[in-house]
Amino acid sequence: MSESKVLVGVIGGSGLYHLDNLTFVETVNPETPWGFPSSLITISRLPWGTLIAFLARHGTGHTITPSTVPTRANIAALKSLGARAILAFSAVGSLREEIPPGDFCLPSQIIDRTKGIRVASFFTGNIVAHASFADPFSKKLSAWLEVKVAEALKKEGRNISLHTGKTIVCMEGPQFSTRAESVMYRQWGGDLINMSVLPEAKLAREAELGYALIATATDYDSWRPSEAGVTAADVFKTLQANASTSRFVAAYVLEELAKGIADGQNLMSILTEEEGSMKFSI
Ligand code: ADE
Repeated sequence: MSESKVLVGVIGGSGLYHLDNLTFVETVNPETPWGFPSSLITISRLPWGTLIAFLARHGTGHTITPSTVPTRANIAALKSLGARAILAFSAVGSLREEIPPGDFCLPSQIIDRTKGIRVASFFTGNIVAHASFADPFSKKLSAWLEVKVAEALKKEGRNISLHTGKTIVCMEGPQFSTRAESVMYRQWGGDLINMSVLPEAKLAREAELGYALIATATDYDSWRPSEAGVTAADVFKTLQANASTSRFVAAYVLEELAKGIADGQNLMSILTEEEGSMKFSI
């Protein structure tokens, strides 16, 4: 096990392992009270020495469905390695014309369509806990990312836009939405849709980790009357086309974080989540 602690946990797709600015340190597989995480965790060192831990949400060979991701083990494992915050990456469907496939988004709100289906708390035994979740993403981390992701996209020069302050619907899957559901989510105020942000964001909050999502739109879901509905092939195709941009954004953001910390900027405070869980022992 590494001597120094990991600063940030990154949850995302397997493509993100091969960031140019990272030096491999080791892989670990911590067993938690909730079992093993989705994948081996790769610990890497950024310039200036900061350690980052990478986890593939759906397993290294993408074998774990959104409904069966061992999210409690994932969050607990990253916390046990010392992570202060989690930077999550996800493909999302777009429920808005102005968010075309390929664009990046930093959502600020969530509508939960997995409630009662997925286990969404660490506190299922004889401790009762209530966590504040009005603002499900870390405001400080998201505000910093808004600047840094925009800078990264500008530097990359492919004219890709970043959308902020959006509402993401988290649906159960694994099937995509019907046309009627897709239209309904728009009426509810949803802008984006995925199957993965929950219970990840809830469990990160309970664990007092900062949590932010960098989402990439891969499709228009199924609300456009004259268009074919979304297919897995559409999602995969856009993901492939945008893999290099996602890697560039991830590498840039992580390097800026490490550089900021080395420069003595007060970045630790943007990583630390102040809103924890209020716990009651019974
Ligand atoms: N992930 C990517 N696109 C999606 C969609 N349209 N619905 C749910 N999850 C998604």
